[in-house]
Amino acid sequence: MKVPEHLHEAQTAEPVRHLYRERLGGEPTAIGYAPGRIEVIGNHTDYNGGSVLGAAVDMGIHVAAGLREDSQCRLASAGYEAQVVVPLNAISPRSGAESWANYSLGIAHTLLAEGYPVTNGFQLATASTLPSGAGMSSSAALELATASALAALFGFELDRATLARIGRRTENEFVGVPCGILDQGVSAFGAEDHLVHIDCLTETFRQVPMPSGCQFWIFNSNQKHSLVESRYADRHRECGEAFALLQKTSPEAACLARIDPEIVRQQREALGDVRYRRALHITQENQRVAQAIAALEAGDLPALGRLLTASHESSRRLFENSVPALDFLVGQVIAQPGVFGARLTGGGFGGAVMALTDERFAAQQGSAAVERAFADRFEIYPTIFHCRAGAGATTLLHPAIG
Ligand code: GLA
Repeated sequence: MKVPEHLHEAQTAEPVRHLYRERLGGEPTAIGYAPGRIEVIGNHTDYNGGSVLGAAVDMGIHVAAGLREDSQCRLASAGYEAQVVVPLNAISPRSGAESWANYSLGIAHTLLAEGYPVTNGFQLATASTLPSGAGMSSSAALELATASALAALFGFELDRATLARIGRRTENEFVGVPCGILDQGVSAFGAEDHLVHIDCLTETFRQVPMPSGCQFWIFNSNQKHSLVESRYADRHRECGEAFALLQKTSPEAACLARIDPEIVRQQREALGDVRYRRALHITQENQRVAQAIAALEAGDLPALGRLLTASHESSRRLFENSVPALDFLVGQVIAQPGVFGARLTGGGFGGAVMALTDERFAAQQGSAAVERAFADRFEIYPTIFHCRAGAGATTLLHPAIG
């Protein structure tokens, strides 16, 4: 028997309701949910005005919310014992042991800055089925789940595009990461068995059906470069510098991603070696996203897979945001049966590899072979997830789930 949608949601929301009761007391009035994401193709194209293809996964974060009688924001999380308490009229970024609260506090801060009626103290409990640090953007999921919960709690609407924009603004301005719209856009617009295509220049979002018979895998290297945030910011700056130089000869260009790679080649000397490689990666990667959409529409999974692997090669050689552990994972994964392609997913400098496969990869224990080879080489196990493309951010109101 098929479980009705709202009952299914109620079951998956039960851990967060339990946490809310235990740690904060009473019953939540609203629950927001948002999924993690896989970056399928379009590496660092988002903040360069390009295009990206992603998928929401079927794992995510629930935030349960209720009103308080005072004007404080009180936050509890399944992952941390101590609660964070901040007056609603004095929200500012936390540091150290309390920094996990920044994603939710930042959303409240952004909503207030934009004039949304967050008019009262509130309390939030957060529970996750999405492992943090696994390369599936738990931060965007937490931002969007919080925004959904607060909108329901205070009775205002946030459409999906606004949800994504508010999440990104929070990440850029409150958390301080100069990311693009990929993570929040995919988490907002995800749909079962669909990919999300984002035109990041116009911020338009479109759901693209996935051909049947393909599956996603995530291999988290469990390695993180200690300077990952500053390296991301370095790439952001290098791309901006390359665009400023290219605009001198292409003043009509709206953004770096849409410049013809041929023009980048012609300007190699003016750009200098590093900016040349960054710009070549971004402009060619943007073309690969368009080719990937064409391959999807034609149901040509082998062609899509080749584009994924070519994207990784470009990240490795030109954008230089891969690391040996990710290169090793891609090499191992694509050597297994049933794999169309594999690439690093997300910011890079450690993190995770994604793969697109058919059912032979699971049937022939491809992931076990990759796990063994990786552990032999790096003396640490990768964490491996088999994911489906799942639904995007949503709100579960108390009356609908009680
Ligand atoms: C991270 C950022 C995204 C995007 C990717 C790289 O996931 O949050 O905005 O830039 O890296 O494509």
